[in-house]
Amino acid sequence: MRDLIALGDLSRAELEDLLDLATAMKEIIRRPVKKVPTLRGKAAANVFFEASTRTRNSFELAGKYLGADIINFQARGSSVEKGETLWDTVRTMWAMGVDAVIVRHQAEGVPGEMAARLDIPVINAGDGAHQHPTQGLLDLFTIRERLGQIAGLTVTIVGDVLHSRVARSDIEGLLQLGARVRLVGPPALIPGGWDSPQVRVYADLREALAGAQVVQVLRIQRERQAAGVIPSLREYHDRWGITPARLSWADAEVLVLHPGPQNRGVEIDSAVVDDPKHSAIQDQVENGVAVRMAVLYRLIGEKGVME
Ligand code: CP
Repeated sequence: MRDLIALGDLSRAELEDLLDLATAMKEIIRRPVKKVPTLRGKAAANVFFEASTRTRNSFELAGKYLGADIINFQARGSSVEKGETLWDTVRTMWAMGVDAVIVRHQAEGVPGEMAARLDIPVINAGDGAHQHPTQGLLDLFTIRERLGQIAGLTVTIVGDVLHSRVARSDIEGLLQLGARVRLVGPPALIPGGWDSPQVRVYADLREALAGAQVVQVLRIQRERQAAGVIPSLREYHDRWGITPARLSWADAEVLVLHPGPQNRGVEIDSAVVDDPKHSAIQDQVENGVAVRMAVLYRLIGEKGVME
């Protein structure tokens, strides 16, 4: 593994290795003093051309907990506003001596292009509707941690699959680890080409939720919606929103995930977000730090330090 661009690029063994390593990293972040020197002397650049709260800050903390220096670049307020290109921006970070670039961009394929041109590892922190591999990893980690295993589980992904890089990464990781996936949402927001024995597309929310052990609720991406795909947010909630009553159609022990940020009262009710039994949304955030520590360690760490 030289870069992390798409979850489907990883073998089952590489996925399991990262999840195991994240377990060790989670122990570090629960210590009173959460700092180890594993990546001391290393540096990484967070290069974000799109908004982020969870991914950018958790990469920063992940690097810092491992002793690395992290610089944060945001397009707003940078020389991009003076016309500097994406490539010149990244080349500038590289020339400063960073050991890895973590990139989020609205255009699909940007992290892959960067990886082809840079001699240092590139980590995709989300590119358009293509991939969000560290979100996929933290979702896998959270499911495995809470339910003990992934193989054989039924995971229902609800909502705007069409615009969701999270859904793509989740599906690739879940299939690699032996889960069954169901997709459900407004027909205009479910892309074609997924239906297979392992991935079933449903038109009916109740059928899609029946017996599911995990429900991943996708954010309605107002910033990526073509006009008119959803009649209104209220109607979306009335038809597809995950309420406590609808959640009762799933397995009695169902785990609820949401990548965040949540549109409370649209794709998910507050009562579900804050449900102490079923919601793993806060766990996802904590686990995001642990899996990003694992990814940074695997890509820029000296082999043998943690093993
Ligand atoms: N899940 C996720 O990518 O969240 P942010 O946009 O806050 O990073």
